[in-house]
Amino acid sequence: MKITSTGKILGALIEDVDLSVLPSDERIEEIIQALGRFGVISFPSQNLSSKQLRDFSARFGELEINVANAHQDSGLPEMMILSNMTQNGKPLGLSDAGQDWHTDMSYSRLIAFTNVLYGIEIPMRDGRSLGNTEFCNMHAAFADLPNVWKDKLRGKTATHDFAKFWDNMRLKPGSQRKPLTPEQRQAKPPVSHPVVMIHPITRQEVLYLNPGYSIRINEMSQQESDEALAFLFEHQLNAAYKYKHEWKKGDVLMWDNMGTIHNAVADYLPTEHRYIKRCQVMATRFF
Ligand code: SIN
Repeated sequence: MKITSTGKILGALIEDVDLSVLPSDERIEEIIQALGRFGVISFPSQNLSSKQLRDFSARFGELEINVANAHQDSGLPEMMILSNMTQNGKPLGLSDAGQDWHTDMSYSRLIAFTNVLYGIEIPMRDGRSLGNTEFCNMHAAFADLPNVWKDKLRGKTATHDFAKFWDNMRLKPGSQRKPLTPEQRQAKPPVSHPVVMIHPITRQEVLYLNPGYSIRINEMSQQESDEALAFLFEHQLNAAYKYKHEWKKGDVLMWDNMGTIHNAVADYLPTEHRYIKRCQVMATRFF
């Protein structure tokens, strides 16, 4: 297995490995270390069945079954389809998943470790991929904060709410998302997490906040929290922390949800097809 850094703020390419063959414990540990170090890793030219993708993902921890998942891959509730494609007029997947800055599962008491995405159809225009996935580095975002902010944030907690992202997505023109049912809301009540997390792989401090789900810094007044979040959301999206994965068919893309935030870029038309399989790995191995 050959790991090559992109040389950018995030990202590494991992070659000479066939993910259809379940990796050894040593190899899994190498991949975990690469996730901590590079934040985002991609394995090009993979050829995987859904079950192989699920089994590979499950080597990293418990897999999530999405509360609003109407688009499971057949017989595999842990696998979600992200797609704008339809069959007989019916959507094949969730078409607007992740289309704003967020961290997956920060709204969950047990947070997410890593996502495993497998690109089957990638929209292309003029020789360039569309629907790319962008990331920001939360190790760097915390490290660059002025000391007064670091001191202010250490020891604080923030509330994260699943409904914030869902309700915001519903406001976007053409959204097909249905209102969450009371049962779905109840299944995902808001939760609190430390604002500054010691990253379990790197042992460095990361800023664990995101515009998608974070709604309040609990130990501040509403006004102080609103002002702090406005500042921190802008800070964490600084261009200096950004990295973009440009998709190719056959890529398996993984990222560390504790040390990055991400955004699925919605720059393609309904006629430009994207079809991606996704498994979400919870941080069961760390917490
Ligand atoms: C996600 O937020 O998990 C989806 C990312 C993507 O489709 O690029």
